[in-house]
Amino acid sequence: MDELRELYQEIILDHNKNPKNFGELPDANHSSEGYNPLCGDRIKVFLKVKDGLVEDIKFTGSGCAISRASASVMTTLVKGKTVQEAEELFKRFHDLVTQSPQAEVNLEELDKLAVFAGVREFPSRIKCASLAWHTLIAALKEKQEPISTE
Ligand code: FES
Repeated sequence: MDELRELYQEIILDHNKNPKNFGELPDANHSSEGYNPLCGDRIKVFLKVKDGLVEDIKFTGSGCAISRASASVMTTLVKGKTVQEAEELFKRFHDLVTQSPQAEVNLEELDKLAVFAGVREFPSRIKCASLAWHTLIAALKEKQEPISTE
């Protein structure tokens, strides 16, 4: 498990350093802003949704390594998926990070989401990792007011 933890740490660091889908999306038709009141970090998620499909997704904002990596991983997972699949991914992510740190993790089923299993041990980090996902759901639901991780 230590090797796995190191691998996950590397993936998080890499996504933080070279975030995927970072930037604005001029032709977005859904967007939302989320913030973490614990640190004041903010993130914006932009989506181009057509016929129930997330054709494109990007994010901007500043935050810690975990929040940035989580946003980057989230965009790679959601891009090209249906809105329903995106909501299911959110639910799987949410179930993962809010379960007991001792709970068994099904790596195959979780795929890339598994890299965030480690945050379960650090309650304040759960909010960092969740920021992009909550913002994604708010964008899909067209919430205009900024959403908070609280
Ligand atoms: Fe602000 Fe992690 S410390 S989002």
